Order: sequence, then structure tokens, then C-alpha cells
Amino acid sequence: MNGPAVQTRGLTRRFGSFTAVRDLDLTVRSGGIFGFMGPNGSGKTTVIRMLCGLLLPSAGEGRVLGLDIVTQQAAVRERIGYMSQKFSLYGDLTVEENLRFYGRMYGLCGQALSGRIRDMVLMAGLGGNETDLTSNLSGGVRQRLALGAAIIHNPPLLFLDEPTSGVDPGSRRVFWDIIYGLAAGGTTVIVTTHFMDEAEHCDDLGFILDGDLIASGSPSELKSSLPGILWSITSEEPMDLLDRIDSEKRPDVIDAYVCGSELHLLTAPGTPAPAAGGKAKQIRPSLEDVFVFLARNGRKGRAA
Ligand SMILES: Nc1ncnc2c1ncn2[C@@H]1O[C@H](COP(=O)(O)OP(=O)(O)OP(=O)(O)O)[C@@H](O)[C@H]1O
Ligand SMILES: [Mg+2]
Repeated sequence: MNGPAVQTRGLTRRFGSFTAVRDLDLTVRSGGIFGFMGPNGSGKTTVIRMLCGLLLPSAGEGRVLGLDIVTQQAAVRERIGYMSQKFSLYGDLTVEENLRFYGRMYGLCGQALSGRIRDMVLMAGLGGNETDLTSNLSGGVRQRLALGAAIIHNPPLLFLDEPTSGVDPGSRRVFWDIIYGLAAGGTTVIVTTHFMDEAEHCDDLGFILDGDLIASGSPSELKSSLPGILWSITSEEPMDLLDRIDSEKRPDVIDAYVCGSELHLLTAPGTPAPAAGGKAKQIRPSLEDVFVFLARNGRKGRAA
């Protein structure tokens, strides 16, 4: 399709008096991988559930694949794939039975269904395991089967809500190879993740904090949006150094935080190398720096 895969305006969801998602204007272009980031409880799943036609907004509007998420909820659900944060597979069904169940739910039958089940078994690396009970599969394999169930009807848009939490690095890599393959084949993928390496591989990112979308752009755009100069200071006692910098309250220090065994210091543009007790070198920000900065300063930034 030519238009955006997702477009929302003023999208809001309240639970009682609590606003979980506030006034969200989001555009996700068709094709490619969009990463949705934000701390726990910031509203990612709530946004996704509204976009998937599973939860009605309290205010605002949105279109998914050109369909209205309020008046065409059922049509949205039929056209998209959704892998929820808690995989929705039946443990007491076999691999093939789970795929058959989801395929039928999406209206597939006969040879089309058998063909797709075969394809999904191959994609998940489950050839020969079709009759295994799903509850006996390892986490990484169950995750790939859940993906197969979510895309058995070959949807043009796929939502993945923290698909790789709790799986080992090897399985994460295999999973992402499958995601790249889907994106290369034209599927638009919207994925929430807390992993920086996964975010790095997205074409575009959105960062949500306390229900507000506070930043969006490509990974390189987000990195270059970090204000000031970033320094890494190697110190034997980075926490002590942080305490000292915090207590000094220097006006040129925008932010300071410990990153592994180093202290990262963000200073106003044009400031000289900080003298603060350690060897300082100027570094290029990583996505982790961007997200630490946004999570710590996002609210301040918006209020300005
Ligand atoms: N059905 C509900 N009723 C009341 N509050 C809810 C409901 N669903 C979500 N919330 C609240 O809305 C906020 C956003 O939750 P949400 O699950 O969207 O966050 P999240 O960004 O997906 O978090 P996580 O990274 O932990 O998955 C949280 O404070 C949560 O407790
Ligand atoms: Mg969530």
C-alpha cells in the first residue's frame, strides 16, 4: 500500500482517572521495521492494543492499513498479525494443531491452510516436530511458533510486543533473522523492545514516556539529537565521581550517569574537556545514551 501503515492523531487511552496514553500523533510508514521503546508501564502495549483493534481509544483517532481503528476494528484484526507480550499458544495442543487453530481463525482452509502450516513449520525450524506438544518446546522455539501463528494469514503489518524477552541470545538472533526476512519481503513490522541492539536494527524508532511520545526518528537521527557533547570518563570509582559531579551542580553539565565502569557526562556545546577526576574522552552517543537521556530528562524537555 502507498499510504502510511499506521497514522494516529490525538490518540488517548484512559483507565478510570489514569491516562495511559496521551494525545499520540504517530506515523509509521509502510515497509521496514519500526521500534517502539519506553520504560515499563510507559504505554507501549496500550498503544499496540488500540492499533490492533483490541482496545478502544478514549479520544483521538487512528488508521491502520487505511482502516479506522474505532469503526473498523474487526477488519483491522483480520488484516494484521499480532504477537502479544504473553504468547497466546495452547500448551496442550501440538505444534501443527496450534497453527491449524490460528489458520482457521483467520479463515484459511484446505490446501491454502496446509501450505501455510508447512511454511510456518519450516520458518520456525520445527520440521519433524509437528506432533510435539507445545508445552514441551523450549522458550526460543515456542516464540518462533507464536510468530508463525501470528503471521499464518500472511498479514502486511505485524505487531510484536516484546517478542524476545526471556529468550536466549542465540534464539534472539534467529528470531531477528526471520523478522529481517519478513521486512525484506515487504511486511511492515512494529516491535516493542527493551534491547538496544534490537533498537539499533530498526529503521525508525519512537520513544514513549508516561504515555507521551517524546521522540521519534531513525537511530542515527536520535543519536544526533542528543544535546551537547558526550564524554566518557574512566574511573575506578564511577559512583563516587558521579556523586561529586552531582554535588558540584555545574551549569555546563546537562546530565551525568554511570554506564558500566565509566561515567558518561553530557556537557553544554563548546565546553572544554571536563577535569573531573578521571581520564575523559569525547564519544559518540549510543542509543543507550539517547534512551537514558530521554528517560531521565524527557519530561523536563517537554515542559520547556
Ligand atoms: N486494563 C488496564 N486497567 C488499568 N490500568 C492499565 C490497564 N492496562 C494498562 N494499564 C496501565 O497503563 C500503563 C501503561 O501500561 P502498558 O502495559 O501499556 O505499558 P508498557 O509500556 O507496555 O509496559 P511494559 O514495558 O512493562 O510492558 C501502566 O501504568 C499500566 O498499569
Ligand atoms: Mg508492554
